[in-house]
Amino acid sequence: MAYDVVVIGTGPGGYVCAIRAAQLGLKTAVVEKDRTFGGTCLNVGCIPSKALLYASHLYEEAGRDFEKMGIKVPAPKLDLTQMMTFKQEGVDGNVKGVDFLFKKNKIDAYVGKGRIAAPGKVEVSTGNGKTETIETKSIVIATGSYVTRLAGIETDENRIVSSTGGLELSKVPDRLLVVGAGVIGLELGSVWRRLGSKVEVVEFLDRILPGMDNEIARSFQRILEKQGIKFRLASKVTGIDQKGKKLKISVEPATGGKAEILEADVALVAIGRVPYTDGLGLAEAGVKLDNKKRVIVDARFKTNVEGIYAIGDVIAGPMLAHKAEDEGIAAAENIAGNAGMVNHDAIPNVIYTFPEVASVGKTEEELKAEGIAYRIGKFPFSANGRAKVNKTTEGFVKILADDKTDRVLGVHIIGADAGTLIGEVTLAMEFGASSEDIARTCHAHPTLSEAVKEAALAVDKRAIHM
Ligand code: FAD
Ligand code: NAI
Repeated sequence: MAYDVVVIGTGPGGYVCAIRAAQLGLKTAVVEKDRTFGGTCLNVGCIPSKALLYASHLYEEAGRDFEKMGIKVPAPKLDLTQMMTFKQEGVDGNVKGVDFLFKKNKIDAYVGKGRIAAPGKVEVSTGNGKTETIETKSIVIATGSYVTRLAGIETDENRIVSSTGGLELSKVPDRLLVVGAGVIGLELGSVWRRLGSKVEVVEFLDRILPGMDNEIARSFQRILEKQGIKFRLASKVTGIDQKGKKLKISVEPATGGKAEILEADVALVAIGRVPYTDGLGLAEAGVKLDNKKRVIVDARFKTNVEGIYAIGDVIAGPMLAHKAEDEGIAAAENIAGNAGMVNHDAIPNVIYTFPEVASVGKTEEELKAEGIAYRIGKFPFSANGRAKVNKTTEGFVKILADDKTDRVLGVHIIGADAGTLIGEVTLAMEFGASSEDIARTCHAHPTLSEAVKEAALAVDKRAIHM
């Protein structure tokens, strides 16, 4: 069977790429090594984590806030098994959706591990030593990423877990130790804290969320501490003794020094992810990787080998589902002879805690490092009518605009619905908007989005409600 395109991997990058290729009239197939389609995001990433974040937030609200609103209910009881069923139903629904879309778009799916035997040839290992070779004009590598291991520490997905085990604990740990104050550590740390765990986070650097605007990270850390999460910054885990009933975790200052032993029931290791390029035949095919083992591509997602493209977590850039999707669309359009591009300067980033944290564009630190003069407009949710009435006043909107042109260069938000609010400013940035453009746009009242307009007004020191 000869195809126009074979996509290896069916995560958000791969499945979206295949659908767009089919829409453009290309004969398309996908290869997936796992039992279900959808990749990390749908099976063990975005979707299950958001289901648990949603359910655990409501659990906490029901016990803490309902009475204040005049809703009298008995203290909520946790049924963790049912919460996991709720999560799994969400995963199954999304995974089945991908299956349906493949059929609808007449995309052939091969189940097995794919390997590039040569440009134009993908070999699929279908099990029991059997292989099948598919001929194709173009290949898209969309194999994603996997968990970074902590040197010398094996995860058993039971007591020492990666994010995958951290989404499936059968019991709420009394004490949870999280290694890594990144997105996964803070999202899953929040889930288990809400459900009753005492959570402590050990972070190698002297700050949480490297890469995030400093002011936002500091403010977010204070909010999480108020919620009960403890942080041990500039520290490293050097070993875990699993012999006793409790894990005994050795923690040292990052620069070395005396170790302290912390006890925990479960340790969650969340120190980043690495691109998945093992066993793909890339070296033999001559596809070049960078020093972080990411596939090197040009602006059209072409590798150095004619007819081989790569997208998503396996190439450079933030490891985010929507970035992978947009690259998938662009790669398919390029293969079809169109001009597919992605503006990597306007990729939003959201942390789905409560409050949420969302950002797009440059941080203050990046602007300083690049020597770009900027003005800041800030507006707190404590001065926003809707946030006041909902009693969700934590956080603020911060807009960074070019000092001379007023063009919006970056927006950073902590707040109840930050993940949704970031959409409007991402669109504004795509259109090259100035802060004045946002300030002059009518925003519905009473909405949290008025805080975005006020922050834009604040760039010019003329916020109304502050
Ligand atoms: P993946 O989703 O990793 O898919 C790659 C696919 O390729 C997999 O199905 C894999 O089995 C398959 N594959 C690999 N090698 C082969 C082979 N040789 N042959 C056949 N198949 C192969 N991002 C967000 O934007 N928002 C979130 O809320 C979010 N939450 C997350 C929560 C967690 C706990 C984790 C771990 C990640 C989260 N992410 C989130 C990141 C997001 O999941 C990834 O950025 C996204 O899945 C990357 O998509 P991808 O298509 O590049 O790769
Ligand atoms: P991360 O890169 O976000 O954070 C890892 C953290 O671990 C960093 O703060 C790093 O300094 C720290 N660290 C590294 N080595 C360490 C060590 N030895 N000891 C202590 N700390 C150490 O990685 P994370 O949280 O594992 O997530 C992986 C990726 O998944 C992220 O890059 C993100 O793009 C994606 N993701 C996105 C989500 C979202 O969009 N809401 C949710 C979850 C994951």
